[in-house]
Amino acid sequence: MKNIINRLAEDHVLSRDEFRELLTNITDEEQEYLAEKAREVRHQVYGYDVYTRGLIEFTNYCKNDCYYCGIRRSNQNASRYRLTEEDILECCKVGYELGFRTFVLQGGEDGYFTDERLEDMIRSIKRDYSDCAITLSVGERSYDSYKRLFDAGADRYLLRHETANEEHYGKLHPKELSLHNRKQCLIHLKNIGYQVGCGFMVGSPGQTVDNLIDDLEYIKELEPHMVGIGPFIPHKDTPFADQTQGTLEMTLRLLSIIRLMNPRVLLPATTALGTIHPLGREKGILAGANVVMPNLSPTDVRKKYMLYDNKICTGDEAAECRMCLAWRMENKGYHLVVERGDYKI
Ligand code: 5AD
Ligand code: FES
Repeated sequence: MKNIINRLAEDHVLSRDEFRELLTNITDEEQEYLAEKAREVRHQVYGYDVYTRGLIEFTNYCKNDCYYCGIRRSNQNASRYRLTEEDILECCKVGYELGFRTFVLQGGEDGYFTDERLEDMIRSIKRDYSDCAITLSVGERSYDSYKRLFDAGADRYLLRHETANEEHYGKLHPKELSLHNRKQCLIHLKNIGYQVGCGFMVGSPGQTVDNLIDDLEYIKELEPHMVGIGPFIPHKDTPFADQTQGTLEMTLRLLSIIRLMNPRVLLPATTALGTIHPLGREKGILAGANVVMPNLSPTDVRKKYMLYDNKICTGDEAAECRMCLAWRMENKGYHLVVERGDYKI
C-alpha cells in the first residue's frame, strides 16, 4: 500500500486497480501515511496558510429537482427567500471588515437572477471591493451567460459535477438533467477563463467505488483549479431522506488523494464535513485541504438554505464563524489569511 501512495505522490496518477486498492483496502495507519504525504505537498505549495471564502447564499429558489437536495423545487416545506442587492452588499461589507477577500455568491437555479441582475450585482461588488475575488455558484447556464458574468468581473465558478458516471448521475437527478450538459458547462467555464471548481458528494445513494474512480479520472482530465467534496447527508424532505450519509473516513481519504493528484488544487474542508463530525473541518485540513468557506449570509435566512439536515453554523453571526474557524485552524498550527487566495500557477 505504501508503494501505491508513494507513487501517487510522485506521478499524480494511478491505474484504476490501484485507486480501487487505495479506496477499499487501506488500514488506519496507511490512511495516516496518505494524509501525511498530502500535507507535505500542501505545505510545499501553500505552507500553513488556509484561505477563507465568505459564502453568501443569496437565493434558495431552484427550478431543479435533484433527489438529494433540500432546496429542490418539489420541497414544499422549504421557505423560499431572495436577498436584494443591498442585502448582498451589506454581507460583503461585514465580510470585508472580517478579512474576507473572496465572496462566493451561491444560489439555486433561480430564473429571477437574469444575466442583467447578476451583472449589476457583480459590478457593484467589484466597484466597492476591487481587491476581492468573486466566485459564482449558480448552476448551469449558457456559454453566453457565463461569458457576460465573467466580463462583468466574476473570477471563479463552482459547479460540482456531482458524479462522473452517467448511470449514477441518472440515479441522483431527474431525467431533464444530464451529465453531458454538466460537463459541457464546466468546459465552457474553463474556456472563458474562470478559475473553475468541480466536485462531488461522498457516499451519495448508489455510489460505487468504481463511480469514485470515475470521479478521480474525470478530475484528472478536467484539471480544475478547485475541487469541492463533502459527505452526502440526507435531508428529511427529499426522496433520499432514509439513505445513509457518507463517511468521514472516505471523505478524508479522497481529500488526500485529490491533493496528491493535483498539488496546487484549492481544496475546501466543507461545511458538510464539519456537520458529520465536530472536528470534521480540522481533519479535512490535516488531510490536505487548504480552504474553508464560512457562511456570510444574514442569520435570518441561514436556516432556509438547508441542502441537508443538521447543517452547522446556521445560528451564528459571520463574525462568530470567522473567529471560531480562526481558532480552530490555529489550534492545528494553521493560519487563516487575509488574501484572495488564488490558484498558484
Ligand atoms: N448532502 C451533501 N451535499 C449536498 N449538496 C446538495 N445536497 C446535499 C446533501 N444532501 C451539495 C451538492 C451541491 C452543493 C452546493 O451542495 O454537491 O453541488
Ligand atoms: Fe460557524 Fe464555528 S464556523 S460557529
